[in-house]
Amino acid sequence: MQHPNVQIDFDKIEKDLFLAVSKMMKWDCSKIENLHKDFKKSLQTKIEQLSDQFTHNRPKQIEPYFQANIDVAAYAMHFHAATMQRMMSVCAEIPPNMFSHQKRIRVLDIGAGTGAALQGFLFWLHQVYPALRVEADLLDQSLKVLTFAKNFLLSTTPYPEKIEIIPLDLKQEKLSSDAYDVVIACNVLNEIGGIENIHSIVEKMHSQSLLILIEPALFETSRLVMNTKKKWTNIGLHVLAPCTHDLDCPMLHSSKDWCHFETSWESGAFRKSMDHRLHHESILSYSYMILSKTGYEMNEKRVLSSVLKSRIKKVNCLQVCGHKQVEYLYFDKRNVQMKGIQKGQKLMLPTLDRYLDAKKYFSDQEAFWVPNDTDIKIK
Ligand SMILES: C[S@@+](CC[C@H](N)C(=O)[O-])C[C@H]1O[C@@H](n2cnc3c(N)ncnc32)[C@H](O)[C@@H]1O
Repeated sequence: MQHPNVQIDFDKIEKDLFLAVSKMMKWDCSKIENLHKDFKKSLQTKIEQLSDQFTHNRPKQIEPYFQANIDVAAYAMHFHAATMQRMMSVCAEIPPNMFSHQKRIRVLDIGAGTGAALQGFLFWLHQVYPALRVEADLLDQSLKVLTFAKNFLLSTTPYPEKIEIIPLDLKQEKLSSDAYDVVIACNVLNEIGGIENIHSIVEKMHSQSLLILIEPALFETSRLVMNTKKKWTNIGLHVLAPCTHDLDCPMLHSSKDWCHFETSWESGAFRKSMDHRLHHESILSYSYMILSKTGYEMNEKRVLSSVLKSRIKKVNCLQVCGHKQVEYLYFDKRNVQMKGIQKGQKLMLPTLDRYLDAKKYFSDQEAFWVPNDTDIKIK
């Protein structure tokens, strides 16, 4: 059984965020609709600057950006809820019953910012494992953002019995601590100066601990996640998702591919207006990896595309990750089961014959034919 997809009310989250932001900024205003236009303008301008920094300028060196309260306010009002949603979508891929035998877990959020990834994780966890007890640590180089995160999470989030903050620059210092059950590193890999700076944390993970990495679905950041895979497996970790194997990512064979996924959400009204202003789509994309020291035998293929039209008449196609190579599954376009498959799902298939017709168009493609009556298990 897969974990369910957890839904939350992002209008409510946005309202709670605004109350916390407004208190920090001393705006004395409880609803964003009533915010003075000059304050609103400065918030929008800061969001636009941060958005640029995280997209066009991301591959470059990023300067610390949580210097003033308005930086924290902008991050909270635009990026926080989206990170929560991405985190909850990734959590659905955590192996079933992962925490069924535990009474209490310790979680660490590395480069926590406003605590969005931890909050998304806790909302998910609370719905799926309501009896669990949780203690969490938030680590970041900015004390200002950590203070906001701790206050916000303690007042709005189910669970955490205890939240500690750890102000620490990972480029300067290592974290000395016992093993965590869950380690989260979300949107931080290109800022913390390489994964070497979190090795000491990862090495201490016990056999049932999870490491959850999430990055933006930009070409560079997704490839960064894909490229770290070898380093993780070299130190004894196994990839539980999205890969269904520990081999090198087959997408790295091509210089043009990057592995990323999408999730849809119903964002709050302010985020909607900012997406419109920034000409951003409302769909959220991301790349991710869930790792553990304990591996699982997986006889599945991850679907990497939506249903594609092919150059062959009446034939459609799906791109999947087939352990050693990216594979293409061709099928009759009237095949209802295959047409219903979505990007991100996992397939269990019997052995398939090669599809030689595709070779006429794409000689180097690993192409297979899926007959209409094939027994397929979809997860
Ligand atoms: C893009 S934000 C991500 C915040 C949060 N994880 C999220 O996804 O919403 C990156 C965070 O990493 C922190 N950070 C950057 N470099 C760091 C370092 N060397 N040590 C600790 N934290 C760092 C930043 O202060 C910032 O809060």
